Amino acid sequence: GFDRAIRPRTLSDYIGQPQVREQLDIFISAARGRKESLDHTLVFGPPGLGKTTLANIIASEMNVDIKSTSGPVLERAGDLAAMLTNLQPGDVLFIDEIHRLSPVVEEILYPAMEDFKLDIVIGEGPAARSIKLDLPNFTLVGATTRAGLLTSPLRDRFGIVQRLEFYDIHELTEIVSRSARLLGFESDIEGATEIARRSRGTPRIANRLLRRVRDYAEVRGDGRLQADIADQALNLLHVDRHGLDHMDRRLLLAMIEKFDGGPVGVDSLAAAISEERDTIEDVIEPYLIQQGLMMRTARGRMVTRQAYLHFGLSSGSDDAPEA
Ligand code: ADE
Repeated sequence: GFDRAIRPRTLSDYIGQPQVREQLDIFISAARGRKESLDHTLVFGPPGLGKTTLANIIASEMNVDIKSTSGPVLERAGDLAAMLTNLQPGDVLFIDEIHRLSPVVEEILYPAMEDFKLDIVIGEGPAARSIKLDLPNFTLVGATTRAGLLTSPLRDRFGIVQRLEFYDIHELTEIVSRSARLLGFESDIEGATEIARRSRGTPRIANRLLRRVRDYAEVRGDGRLQADIADQALNLLHVDRHGLDHMDRRLLLAMIEKFDGGPVGVDSLAAAISEERDTIEDVIEPYLIQQGLMMRTARGRMVTRQAYLHFGLSSGSDDAPEA
């Protein structure tokens, strides 16, 4: 919806993830040269890094249509069968949150991926019949937050596996500058960099903050993106100087104040901040771990000395671990 205007459509418009781009460029060129469909591709990584965008780019670079769905939406075998029988040769079938497929739906997917065959039982009891259909060749693009969430038979059926990493500040600055230009929002490099620094390594967050900073600049500033305006707007949004948001601070402060810095189990932590365990594991902690503010250990989660420093606290004991 909202992101249509600024979402990159080709690999050459896609900024960052250089290894993913280089590999996909080669595999796509080779498949096109052989007039084949691209191998099934699994893309994994934290939310907002561009998994859906990549699926769309794969389809457009292969010159085929994309049909999109998600694991939780495909409740029954028939739901997946309907998607599969609706594909044209070469099409991309994109399944977001593919780790949330039910076991019966996953069973249908195996022969579809491997042999392009649909093997499905319809009806129940004595009226039940087994239907076998040939499917066109297609490319399954699956997206998930962590590859480890997939069953191994499903993971093994992907010929291409790509992991998305958090973006660095230079890449995010480029993304913010590009998005600002496409939105007709005049920006300077310092303004774009300020948003980039405070976007948790995540283009989706950078683009969301960019729109809010634009609102702020139009109402309180002169309508242009500059560092001081970005700083004021982001402070108003409670995004701190290091780009941590409200939930990040709640998680770290709960560990420090309620669990003496840890180690603490993720379920206890989830209860303490009234948050889903999955949200902590998939959304909140990956960035905090990457930034060296907390760690995952065999005995549970711990904050690092750097987390105390972030809040201007001294680590009660001197044994808080280094990042
Ligand atoms: N917008 C969101 N993600 C992007 C990316 N990786 N490259 C360019 N624009 C983007």
